[in-house]
Amino acid sequence: MYKIAVLPGDGIGPEIVPEAVKVLEVIGRKYGLEFQFTEALVGGAAIDAVGKALPEETLELCRNSDAVLLGAVGGPKWDDLPPAERPETAALLPLRKGLGLYANLRPAYLFPALVDASPLKREVVEGTDLLVLRELTGGLYFGPKGREKEPDGEKAYDTLVYTTGEIERIARLGFQIARQRRKKLTSVDKANVLISSRLWRDTVNRVATEYPDVTLEHMYVDNCAMQLVRQPRQFDVIVTENTFGDILSDQVSVLTGSIGMMPSASIGGKVALYEPVHGSAPDIAGQGKANPLATILSVAMMLKYSFRADAAASDIEKAVDRVLNKGYRTPDIYQEGRILVSTSEMGRLVREELEQK
Ligand code: IPM
Ligand code: MG
Repeated sequence: MYKIAVLPGDGIGPEIVPEAVKVLEVIGRKYGLEFQFTEALVGGAAIDAVGKALPEETLELCRNSDAVLLGAVGGPKWDDLPPAERPETAALLPLRKGLGLYANLRPAYLFPALVDASPLKREVVEGTDLLVLRELTGGLYFGPKGREKEPDGEKAYDTLVYTTGEIERIARLGFQIARQRRKKLTSVDKANVLISSRLWRDTVNRVATEYPDVTLEHMYVDNCAMQLVRQPRQFDVIVTENTFGDILSDQVSVLTGSIGMMPSASIGGKVALYEPVHGSAPDIAGQGKANPLATILSVAMMLKYSFRADAAASDIEKAVDRVLNKGYRTPDIYQEGRILVSTSEMGRLVREELEQK
């Protein structure tokens, strides 16, 4: 039996997470897997209920589970809190750090039915199938930071720090993932300016000697941002530091038609965490407009990476593919002539496909 911590969080989180949980229930019946779901508070919802964005019980529950399913955290209601109390910095980052999740996998696969849903030209996006591997517990997010008074204003700083060990482990994972895909790894840095990027590049080059079957290339982050929208098919696996990965993965999501299509897995510790790449989307929360597919695809990643249930994972991906082929669309991927559905209808359609085949 697998114990899953369920953290719906804020905004659209409580709408999309139940759809993915119900998908897992169907999968459980179909593949003879037993899941035990335990819900817990996180983010703004936890601040409102118990005064703390990441309650100790929530972190404990996650530590004692086999996997964590997270919706999203944050929203305008908590935006003016000091950084140490905000949902993002007081819940999400400590959760990642506390669980030792140094690697964030963000696959960008364009389902063929959505080629015209992307604002980019069909010729450009067609065939997109890449994965951003983002370092998740180092760099600017976690380096020394501060804000101090100066005689004529203030001074603020964040520090981009990496150690050899931190770079080695994410690089190794990058090579291993590339090895299971099309065997190409693009390491993204800013080695023409940043000293931390020099260490990054030297370290990746050293690790590369262990993976002679994988083609390694280095790319500056500014060039990568351009290449991603110019010719995304050139990429297989992109490995990069925390902040670059944050920025590039939002950009990459446009290649999939909508950020509502992009799942993620954060791994590296004993317990992995699965969450959609999009945030809490407060502007559409509570209206049944959110796309649950990123979260449903995130539980497919959970089945693959945490439970080694590859067949069940690809069953979900194929069910999503069939639902899209039949023309069903949430508002974010809607185009004329297609069938507009709500969050819960989209979830139900995926489950029906799973039950039929
Ligand atoms: C993400 C998000 C988070 C991040 C925010 C909400 C702290 O943008 O998961 O990409 O910056 O990592
Ligand atoms: Mg982000």
